Amino acid sequence: MKDRSKWGTNAGFLLAAIGSAIGLGNIWRFPYVAYENGGGAFLIPYFVALFTAGIPILMLEFALGHHREASAPKAFRHIDAKWEWLGWWAVTFVMFGISLYYIVIMGWCANYMVFSLNCAWGEDPNTFFFDEFLGMSGNKDVWQIGGISWPIATAVAVIWLINWIIAYGGIEKGIERAVKIMMPVLFLITAVIIVWALFLPGAQKGIKHYVTPDFNKITDLKVWIAAYGQIFFSLSLGFGIMIAYSSYLSREANIFKNSLIVGFSNSMYEVFAGFGVFAILGYMATRQSQEIKEVVSSGIGLAFVAYPKAISLLPSGSYFGFLFFLLLIIAGISSSISIIEAFTSAILDKFALARKKVITVICLLGFFGSLVFTTHVGLLWLDIVDHFLNQYGLITVGIVEALIVGWIYRTDKLKAHIVSNLGLSGTRHKIFDYVILQLWMYCIRFITPVALGIAIIHSLIGEFAEPYSDYPVSGVIILGVGWLLVTHIFAFGLSGLPWRGGPPR
Ligand code: ALA
Repeated sequence: MKDRSKWGTNAGFLLAAIGSAIGLGNIWRFPYVAYENGGGAFLIPYFVALFTAGIPILMLEFALGHHREASAPKAFRHIDAKWEWLGWWAVTFVMFGISLYYIVIMGWCANYMVFSLNCAWGEDPNTFFFDEFLGMSGNKDVWQIGGISWPIATAVAVIWLINWIIAYGGIEKGIERAVKIMMPVLFLITAVIIVWALFLPGAQKGIKHYVTPDFNKITDLKVWIAAYGQIFFSLSLGFGIMIAYSSYLSREANIFKNSLIVGFSNSMYEVFAGFGVFAILGYMATRQSQEIKEVVSSGIGLAFVAYPKAISLLPSGSYFGFLFFLLLIIAGISSSISIIEAFTSAILDKFALARKKVITVICLLGFFGSLVFTTHVGLLWLDIVDHFLNQYGLITVGIVEALIVGWIYRTDKLKAHIVSNLGLSGTRHKIFDYVILQLWMYCIRFITPVALGIAIIHSLIGEFAEPYSDYPVSGVIILGVGWLLVTHIFAFGLSGLPWRGGPPR
């Protein structure tokens, strides 16, 4: 069998892993989640979640992929053949779920990058986005599919093409080369946007709202669940990505250090991105003599309604808008490419097919799959599928992987692997082995599964109380639950197929 691909350098791996982590979630989700859940005080549950679940699971995924030199299905199979499905399920629903609509959002951004040049949304960005651009009818009937929107589908084709070109080049010549260009550009554009925003009149007002701590909130369970949810999605945990990426590392790589660097870089990025986002919202509120709470929004509302409004008001707003949407696209591509790689590496591990053919087929399937999200109900489908895959798919993978690694595989095997590459001796070695990594084991065995378990039970109770976001029950069940079930069946099918060259030891 051919040698496994490798990163050229550890720095290349770090840029790729940080690129996977930094995505739309950091730019449009974190600032709002923080604001909604206690502002500055949210940083307490947020960092507790980072230390008790984010970095421990990241270290688990890095260590597992690196130790076994395997993608998620193969790595879980090593623990026990009956867990292979878990790896397949993760990479399948992420590839044929999350990546499909994630790339459609980038397609919207590509259109908006062009719209920014002449503020094509006019006086009413809300009506422009929902009615004109997406062609939505205004109701929540998810079965009134309508036609494909060709400007969106064309942009989606281009984004898939870019992903294909990068992935086609392989690990070192494709992904590593691309992130070495994309990540510095991403950091530069972020810095330009933040500095630009901070000097706008009213910026302080926005930032004050972002950081002012509301300590009453941190006794609310929902705030803690929001913190764990944010950390999980943002660090690309439960996607199978970090397992695949670390499997391409050199044998000497320091897993502990890499986990800390990726974990902290991602969090630092999102906390700082929040300053830019809220500075702009502060400017907008000031210009329109409104309160921050009247202009604030998250995700799609922030990027495609609130920001366009701000862009229209800003001096040289067209440049700002162009840079902002470009930033979202770059952050998105460095994440989507990692999703494609997680699935590809699983297929290559099991079926030993030619990488270039696999990449081509996956990207074509991905493009056609994305088309369903470019129809007039695309946003509604996206919203439902996203809710179910995030709340139940990723979190279930997180719980099960923590439990099987913590209780079946015995975390000490991975611990020994992490320690072996630390290059420490004497007392420092002992401190690491008996204190720091011991704490890690406790997190994996107890804290992470309990915290994620509470989050999932809490979400389930909400699901039974009322259908998600008032969608028709048929839509929620067929699209949300259906997506989880179909990818599950697919994962079982894939795990039942024979391994080319015989099952791994
Ligand atoms: N981690 C990626 C994001 O935050 C998926 O968008």
